[in-house]
Formats: sequence, C-alpha cells, structure tokens
Amino acid sequence: MKRILLALILSVSLFSACTNPGAGGDKVRVGVFMSLTGSTANFGISSVNGIQMAADEINAAGGINGKQVELLVQDDRSDASEAATIVTKFVTQDQVHAILGEVASSRSIAAAPIAQNAKIPMLTPSSTNPEVTKKGDFIFRSCFIDPVQGAAIAQFAAKTLNAKSAAIMVDRKNDYSTGLEKVINEVFTRMGGKIVAVQSYQEGDQDFNAQLTSLKGSNPEVIFVPGYYNDVGLIAKQARDKGITVPLIGGDGWDSTQLYAIGGTALNGSYFTNHYSPYDTDPKVQKFVNDYKARHNSLPDALAATAYDAAKIMFDAIKRAPSLEGPAIRDALAATKEFPGVTGAVTFNENRDAVKPIVMIEIKDGGTYAVKERVTVEGAALPTAANAAPPTVAPANE
Ligand code: PHE
Repeated sequence: MKRILLALILSVSLFSACTNPGAGGDKVRVGVFMSLTGSTANFGISSVNGIQMAADEINAAGGINGKQVELLVQDDRSDASEAATIVTKFVTQDQVHAILGEVASSRSIAAAPIAQNAKIPMLTPSSTNPEVTKKGDFIFRSCFIDPVQGAAIAQFAAKTLNAKSAAIMVDRKNDYSTGLEKVINEVFTRMGGKIVAVQSYQEGDQDFNAQLTSLKGSNPEVIFVPGYYNDVGLIAKQARDKGITVPLIGGDGWDSTQLYAIGGTALNGSYFTNHYSPYDTDPKVQKFVNDYKARHNSLPDALAATAYDAAKIMFDAIKRAPSLEGPAIRDALAATKEFPGVTGAVTFNENRDAVKPIVMIEIKDGGTYAVKERVTVEGAALPTAANAAPPTVAPANE
C-alpha cells in the first residue's frame, strides 16, 4: 500500500513538473503587462492586439527556433502598483523569459526595477520618459524619448506655427506629462517664445473650466497639452465651449482611436507628435495596416504599431540568443541593429533607447490624421543636460 502511495505521489509530482510552466517546457514564455481596463484601457487593448498579431505570425511560421511563443497577458487596470505586482508574479511564479510592457511611463517605471532585479529583459514599446531605461541594463525601449519629442513639439510651435506665446496644461501626477512639460517649457522659451500660463489637472478629472478660464485670460497663441487621450478630448471640448480657438498641441499620449470619439470636432486643427502614421505609403506600413484591419476592422493606432514592432524585436533577439536565460536574451537585444520596424528602424543606443523618426499629425474633420511634417529636431532645439537623455554610461545592475 505504502509503495502504491509513494508511486502515486511520485507520478503526481512528475506530472506537475511537466505541466508547471516554471519547469522549462518547450515554449518561449513572454509576459505582457498592459492596461486592458481603467482610465487608459485603449492603450493596452491596442498594444495587446499588436503583440498578439506578431506572436500569431511567428507561431504560424514555426515559432522561435522551433518553440512556439506563449503570451501571458495580464491587465494592470491602468494602475502602477498593479503593474509592479504583475511583473513580480511574472518573474517569481511564471518564470517568463522576457517581458513586454507598459505604455504609460509611470507604470513602466514602477515595474522596471523588478524585471531588473530578476535579470529578465523588459522592453517597453512606447514609454517615452527617460527614467524608464535608467532603471537598469535589462530595461529597453523601442521608441524615442521625451527630451526629443518635447523639443519637436516646442520647435513646431515656435518655428512652423510661429507662435510667440503659449500656455501649458499639465497632469502633475503623471511622469510622462511632467517630463514633457519641462522640456517644452525650456525649449519654447529658448527659441524666443514665452510661456504665459501653466495650469495643472489630474488624470480622470471631468471639469477643466477653472484652469481654462485662467488660461484664456493670458491669451496664448497655442496651448500645449502633454497628456493622455481621455483627458485631452475633454479639455479640447471645454476649451472650445469657452471660446478658446487656438491650436492645442500635444504628444504621443493623444493617440487612440478613442480621442476623436471623446473630443470630436473640438480637436480639428490641433496637432500632436506621434510614432507613425497609418497613412504612410511605405509598403511595410501598408502591409501592417491591412493585416491589422483584416483582424480588427479598424486602423491601427501608434500603440498597436509600436507594440507589434516591440514584440518582433524581442522575438528576433530571442532567436539570436544562445539560450533562453535572461542575460543571454538581454545581450542579444542590446545587439539589435537596424531592425526594420513599421515605426522605423531600431538600433538601441548605449542607454537602451531607440532613436526614431517623429511625425507631427494634424487632426482633420472626421478625426482623420494628416501628416503635417516629419520633424527633424534641430540641434539647437534639443534640451540642455537637466532634461536631456540619461547618462551615456549604462547604470550598474541593481
Ligand atoms: N509615451 C507615453 C508615455 O510614456 C505613452 C504613449 C505612447 C501613449 C504612445 C500613446 C501613444 O507615457
């Protein structure tokens, strides 16, 4: 009897060893943490669509070195501490080989130290605040950074629109928003413009009337709104209701299929910087747009495109890595050269950031996007050291 029991216990534990994902297995496990619900749900939904499409493509083509990719997708509910909890589980229980996420810089900043400590490479497709990759040498981003994006925004206002005065609406609790505000303020002022008013709000606010009344009184020629689409849509509406007609200008955080659904015609004639345009005639872009449309019946926003690229960049690194160990994948990722993404070619610099093209989008009637210009940031427009890119020496392992 005892022997039978022992055999039973043994076979149960053997069985669980085989099915436990932590026991190795024959799959490449990629943890994906994104906001699928909560205030910026659209960021995560689009991103997961892009990542899923990349995974389906590679799995249909035989996987990575014969192994299928398994995505472990988790919803952080647009919450930074939940993002940290999920990534902790990824590295302690799920034993993922690599991590993709997040969109919002504050959430990537919260999660990055955990991936870093566990030596599991984490790649964010779209977090632009410099702090993210300063968390350590296992943390990468395949998009541009805010010192450059902010300079592009300020330069566009000062040069292309010839604005001499501007106001800013900033979300004080959001690292992305405050980071951009600092750069825009510095560069616009250096280019001869004057910031005549700064007002703040908090993500999720519904009523912006007090701030807008105050901004209107200072009569700016443009208003910078470095925020996320849900707040921006409402701010645009309430600004127009108040008789403020000047262009609003923002960054990539505006991009969402929901932006126009919220702000409508109040957004016409406003501008934002972005990672790509779905109207780009490049065949690579058009193939991606058509494939995405066939799956989702909508145009892919920048989140879908940057996330699709990030997943493919990670898969490519895993393919080149000599093993599935974190440090091996990290080194292969760092060695990525001119990866031909939909949002531009990706080579990581010494800070593990990508240097990528920026497009300035003009919002037209009906919510269509026209490429106003491809922004080349002039050397003189780049922010000074305090706001600039992280130090050139990679931080030591934490
Ligand atoms: N860049 C934003 C951030 O870092 C996130 C974002 C990227 C939002 C692209 C929309 C589109 O917080």
